[in-house]
Amino acid sequence: MFEFACEPDLPKPELYDSLREAAVALIADEPDSIANMANLAALIWQFLPQLNWAGFYRLVGDELVLGPFVGKPACVRIAIGKGVCGTAAATLESQIVPDVHAFPGHIACDANSRSELVIPVIRDGSLISVIDLDSPVPARFDRTDAACMEAFARSIEHAV
Ligand code: SME
Repeated sequence: MFEFACEPDLPKPELYDSLREAAVALIADEPDSIANMANLAALIWQFLPQLNWAGFYRLVGDELVLGPFVGKPACVRIAIGKGVCGTAAATLESQIVPDVHAFPGHIACDANSRSELVIPVIRDGSLISVIDLDSPVPARFDRTDAACMEAFARSIEHAV
């Protein structure tokens, strides 16, 4: 059994530090990337408040394919350059979307989603996946969330 202490009222940097520490402990010594992505999605869901979807899209061939996640069933395949995830994959830059309805080409998977953060996961200079976080709260994610999730991605890229 894994028990991680989580205090969602912590200031963001401390909250993300504890998330990252828990993540590193969770994936230590486990080589199976699917198992690690599944546990990491569950951990993100446990630690970060105000989410309605958290998970991975993996680069498979020339498109993104749904990976382990927590939330409602989602679209399976996303072309590079399409939607928020595809834009993050095409640009290799995090996408902070305060209002998903204002994002051209946003792919709606859960009608409750209002804002979104997508972080590329890069290993040895190449994209391997993106982490997608959706929230029912408008403007849920800011630059601190993006910077902290980028650090998270760097901490787990070898294991997913
Ligand atoms: N909204 C995303 C698609 C994935 S779902 O949110 C889980 C996008 O536009 O890329």
